[in-house]
Amino acid sequence: MTDPAKQPLRRTNPDADDVGYNPTANPTFDAVLAARLSRRDFVLGSLGTGAMAVFGGVSLAGCAGSGGGTVGGTSETLLGFKAVSKGLADAVVVPEGYSVSVICALGDPLTAATPAYNNDGTDTDFESRFGDHHDGMEYFGLSAAGAPDPNSGERALIGMNHEATTNPDPAGPSYFIHANGGTTTLPRPAAEVDKEMALHGISMFEIRKTAGKFAYVRDSAFNFRIHQQTPVDLYGPARGHGLVMTKHSTGGTQTRGTLNNCGTGRTPWGTLLSGEENWAGYFTRSATDNAARGNDKSVTSLNRYGRAQGAASRHGWETGGSDDKYQRWNIGKTGVSADGTDDYRNELNTMGYIVEVDPYDRTRTARKRTALGRFAHEAAAFSVATAGRPLAIYQGDDARNEYIYKWVSAANWDAADANAADRLAVGDKYLDSGKLYVARFNADGSGDWLELTITAPAIAGYATYAFADQADVCVNARLAGDALGATRMDRPEWSGVNRTNGEVYITLTNNSNRRLNPTGSQVAPDAANPRVYTDTKAGGSTSTGNVNGHIIRIRDTGGEPAATTFTWDVYLFGAESGASASVNLSGLTADQDFSSPDGLVFSRATNICWIQTDDGAYTDVTNCMMLAALPGSVGDGGAVAVTDTGVTTQRGKLPTAETLKRFLVGPVGCEITGVCEAPDGKTLFINIQHPGETTAIANIGDPSLYTSHWPGSTGYGAGGASARPRSATIAITRDNGGRVGT
Ligand code: FEO
Ligand code: CA
Ligand code: CA
Ligand code: CA
Repeated sequence: MTDPAKQPLRRTNPDADDVGYNPTANPTFDAVLAARLSRRDFVLGSLGTGAMAVFGGVSLAGCAGSGGGTVGGTSETLLGFKAVSKGLADAVVVPEGYSVSVICALGDPLTAATPAYNNDGTDTDFESRFGDHHDGMEYFGLSAAGAPDPNSGERALIGMNHEATTNPDPAGPSYFIHANGGTTTLPRPAAEVDKEMALHGISMFEIRKTAGKFAYVRDSAFNFRIHQQTPVDLYGPARGHGLVMTKHSTGGTQTRGTLNNCGTGRTPWGTLLSGEENWAGYFTRSATDNAARGNDKSVTSLNRYGRAQGAASRHGWETGGSDDKYQRWNIGKTGVSADGTDDYRNELNTMGYIVEVDPYDRTRTARKRTALGRFAHEAAAFSVATAGRPLAIYQGDDARNEYIYKWVSAANWDAADANAADRLAVGDKYLDSGKLYVARFNADGSGDWLELTITAPAIAGYATYAFADQADVCVNARLAGDALGATRMDRPEWSGVNRTNGEVYITLTNNSNRRLNPTGSQVAPDAANPRVYTDTKAGGSTSTGNVNGHIIRIRDTGGEPAATTFTWDVYLFGAESGASASVNLSGLTADQDFSSPDGLVFSRATNICWIQTDDGAYTDVTNCMMLAALPGSVGDGGAVAVTDTGVTTQRGKLPTAETLKRFLVGPVGCEITGVCEAPDGKTLFINIQHPGETTAIANIGDPSLYTSHWPGSTGYGAGGASARPRSATIAITRDNGGRVGT
């Protein structure tokens, strides 16, 4: 008989990001379809010119139009590869004619002096190593002389997020990074906490091509880490505000570290943007903290952001010792000051932003851009930069029933800024002054961007929370979105912009809180989130809600980044190909079907839309995957009624075998995330996050029970066929030297 303690762990919900704190009852919209708005055709002409300036001369001329076909000047066919089948192998599977190599993995050294990674839980010094849970990435080219050069395909820096570390038990430890799996009870040993704090954050690392293949440069002077002791400055409206004053920064201008970094953005001036996602769970608050705070409005804010009093922290870092670096994770009011400068009651307000990092200068302190709002940030997708027009940034807030946001810079884009020497000063110009909007999706396929401003009567007079000023609106963006009646979405994840027409794609990964007859925090389906159904897994477990997620897309009116109205449709509905027609609304075939879209990035070289999954529903049939797509445009389909829910939605043109194809399936227990590429499109970098996460902590001593040994099983690093699994970055190339995705 099998020892139950040695069974592989099968959590019903493997996604630590699957949280929801939105208690509001914002209106859902009448499903009756009105006539579609007349839509002006999008004019590409002027955008092409702007794009040339933005990317420092990286030509978009090779981009294929939507719908596939051949690439100008070559015989390549976009999506010409043979689709990869769904599967459960502990391997990275790519189409015939493609190769994969591991570039770097959890724990690899980032300095010459740091020892090679043992991968047995004994390693330390993660401040000088790659962190865990590789996530979003951006490519920053370097000339041979080491100067910024966006066209360089020989040498570059990659800015990479380290989102988290595996934690199968919300009250317990991480495990493969600790020799015995770590301490599952509180208090946590300081040595374990130090390791875990260091492997969250960002890595900046150099890659170089040698003999046609990229490898990372262990001893590059450009390499650096941002971890939880690294100073990071606060910029924008909240800088110096009472909401962010702490014992560490009594003036409210700085915090330490960046946390749970998920998606990314690359600014037109050559810096990295990194989104802080589910940071709230790292903090704890005592069960009597509401009274300690005098039940002031901070309690409303803390509850809305997921830290009700008594909330336990994800890893127990606050128990590591009396040192301030541990105590900061306790956000209860413990001091006696009126302004919070003698404790960490305001520390939660220093997390939850888009962080700007200068990849080329490790001496510059990163800046949190508070004007872009505080929420569970995913990617920061820029509009196509056009001289003389503002820049827009599209952003998702990943929690159940949260919102989609847009930032519009006050300054118009000046192409000369692409080559400025002080890149963070350019960031001040475009990221500290502007307008923040939240999206409302109307049933007729129209939409409104509602401005989050203290001058809006609905915000200034909001009964639930008394906003003091614009800084308060930015720090409490979710509450401001509630006040405006924004549309509650099925967990907005990454955003991406189609470079040829400026349309915005946003993944909505799934939502276990959507119901036909909602109770409590559940919400009813609406036109933009129209599905509710039940899925069954092998073994009989079921999930209800929008189980497989969808991808929505937006066209700002007139193609203007500053537009306050838009049109939308659902580009794809995730589904199992065998599901009913009212679930498999996009008619996905076995070569295309997917569940829980998360990462989404448009290639600048090919305009292929890469779609990545972070799934727990279809994982009885297949590991997580990446698909390649050639999308059309908003409105290329039409209205359709979802018979299960009675809701009418807007559906894009159905995909064909030529416009949507599975390109990759990852190892057991992983999530596929992050995409960046060499400028020629011939090397694609992606991340394999947390392979083997489905291994039970009780099995740490028996490698035969690990659910994955990747990438050690491929010969990478220590451990071989019995290696502990590691998050890793891979490079994908086509064997004939062609571009990836052809
Ligand atoms: Fe870090 Fe919501 O994906
Ligand atoms: Ca199923
Ligand atoms: Ca993710
Ligand atoms: Ca996800």
